[in-house]
Amino acid sequence: MIEISNLTVKFGGVTPLDGVSVRFEPGTCGLIGPNGAGKTTFFNVLSGFVRPVSGSISVFGEDLLSMAHYRRARWGLRRTFQTEQAIEELTVADNVAMVLEHAPGAPRGGARREAVLDALDFVGLDADPDCPVGTLGARERRLVEVARAVVGKPRLVLLDEPAAGLPDEETEHLGRVIARIPQETGALAILVDHDMSLVSACCSVTAVLDFGKIIAAGPTAEVLRDEQVIKAYLGTEEVAA
Ligand SMILES: Nc1ncnc2c1ncn2[C@@H]1O[C@H](COP(=O)(O)OP(=O)(O)OP(=O)(O)O)[C@@H](O)[C@H]1O
Ligand SMILES: [Mg+2]
Repeated sequence: MIEISNLTVKFGGVTPLDGVSVRFEPGTCGLIGPNGAGKTTFFNVLSGFVRPVSGSISVFGEDLLSMAHYRRARWGLRRTFQTEQAIEELTVADNVAMVLEHAPGAPRGGARREAVLDALDFVGLDADPDCPVGTLGARERRLVEVARAVVGKPRLVLLDEPAAGLPDEETEHLGRVIARIPQETGALAILVDHDMSLVSACCSVTAVLDFGKIIAAGPTAEVLRDEQVIKAYLGTEEVAA
C-alpha cells in the first residue's frame, strides 16, 4: 500500500501539488485529471526527480522520500514517461535488459535474458527481441516501454499515458496487459491516462487531481460520475470519452 500525506510541491510561484493526501491499495490504480493537474509531477516526486516542500510517502511501510532516487530504482520503482525512453539503435532485448543493469540481485547472464523474454512475452510483443527498437512501429515501441517497466521484480510501476495516440484496438490490448501487472509481477501499478475507457477497464479504484488537489478518490465508476470530476473535465476533450 502507498500512503501519501499532505504532499506539496512548489516551482517558483506554481504549486503543482497542493497538500495531496491519498492512498493506493494493491492492484492497478488510476490517477486522472485535466492537463496540468499535477499527475506527472506526482510521478516525479515518487521517482525522486522532484523534491516536495512538505509531506510524506510511505510505500509498503518504507519512507520513500528518505530513499535516494537511484535506490528507488533498485528497490523496485519503475516508470514509463510521456516520451519514449528506449534507445533506437539498441535492440529490443538490450533496451529492456538495461533496466536491470545496476540492480543488485537482479538476474545476470542467461537468467537476465530469460527475464527479458518473459517481460516481452507478458506484454505480447511478437517482434524479434534482437532487432533495433528503431525498426519498430508505434504500437510495438509502446510495448517495449511497458516491458521495461515490468521486467524483473518491480514493486511499484508508474505508467504515464502509456496508450496516448494508440488506436482503440491497441489500447484495448495494452489495457489487458496493464490490468494484469499486479497478478503477474506482484507490483502495485498506478496508471495515468486521459482515456477513461482504458482507466475504467484497468483500474477498480481511481483518484482525481485538479489544480494540484485531490478532488475525488474511490471506485472508478463512482469517481467518473462525481459532479466535481465532471466539472473539472468540462470543456476538455475527455468529457466525450
Ligand atoms: N519543471 C517545472 N517547472 C515549472 N513548472 C512546472 C514544471 N513541471 C511542471 N510544471 C507545472 O506544474 C503543473 C503540473 O504539471 P504536470 O506536468 O504535473 O501536469 P499533468 O497532470 O501531468 O498534465 P498532462 O496531462 O498535460 O501531462 C503545470 O502547471 C505545469 O506547467
Ligand atoms: Mg503529464
